[in-house]
Amino acid sequence: MKRDFLAVSDLTPDEIGRLLQRAGELKAGRGSGQCPLIGKSIGLLFEKPSTRTRLSFEVGVYQMGGNSITMNPSELQLGRGETMPDTARTISRYLDGIMIRTFSHSTLVQFAAAASIPVINGLSDLHHPCQALADLVTITEKKGKLKGLKVAFVGDGNNVCNSLIEAASIMEFDFVIACPEGFEPDADILEKARASAKSEIVVLRDPKEAAGMADAVYTDVWVSMGQEGQADEKKKRLGDYQINSRLLACSKKDVIVLHCLPAHRGEEITDEVMDGPHSVVFDQAENRLHAQKALLEMLIR
Ligand code: CP
Ligand code: NVA
Repeated sequence: MKRDFLAVSDLTPDEIGRLLQRAGELKAGRGSGQCPLIGKSIGLLFEKPSTRTRLSFEVGVYQMGGNSITMNPSELQLGRGETMPDTARTISRYLDGIMIRTFSHSTLVQFAAAASIPVINGLSDLHHPCQALADLVTITEKKGKLKGLKVAFVGDGNNVCNSLIEAASIMEFDFVIACPEGFEPDADILEKARASAKSEIVVLRDPKEAAGMADAVYTDVWVSMGQEGQADEKKKRLGDYQINSRLLACSKKDVIVLHCLPAHRGEEITDEVMDGPHSVVFDQAENRLHAQKALLEMLIR
């Protein structure tokens, strides 16, 4: 039976625990000579731009002995009206797995239902689960644990925030979101995560209250891909939710700062913080590679 990875909640706590351990081993070079993808081909379909996701998947597949094929819809018959389900059925005859970055999450669900190979979400409007896995690797690497930590997310309650909510619920760390009214994370994801969480998942308005005594502070762009039409309004409303040194002063002295990148310096995060001693953003970007290799090992048989 094929396994998809469309959201963090598609994995069990045990599976995430094993994946984090394996990502650490791969990063340390243990078992990196193994090539479980020899003879296998992984498709990478991008409906939106990407630097980290594209390169970490291409390099990861190569390092595991496989072949990656990067595509965009305009090069495929998708661009001329072939349906997603027909495309999914066809590509399942050639590929051993596919990662898709798309707009609507329902596109991924529809594709996964028709495909007979594992489908990995490389970002949708609702989730960015591969990012969350790399974030868990990064926090564990820097803090030695996840359980019992407090992570503050400051800014737009977007796809990255939604995936971190699921991660917090499964891995038992407190997650406090500070956002203006109307910028809350997805209500269903929040409700489900809270229902099963042993940790606290809280939405509030004051960034200082969220960042207070946090072990990690996280932010992402105020205008996600596909939201460019709302850019002026979003930037105006989110103006008070910047990660700067004044905000960090509320957190613990050894707080780490995360950002999935790309950053809009001077908007959601200042240069001073991004380039400062608390920032782990480039280790976090590197960890996309290790986390996704561990994920591919788990899903691609
Ligand atoms: N964080 C992330 O997904 O980056 P890209 O958009 O560059 O892939
Ligand atoms: N929330 C951002 C993440 C980019 C990696 C977006 O969807 O554009």
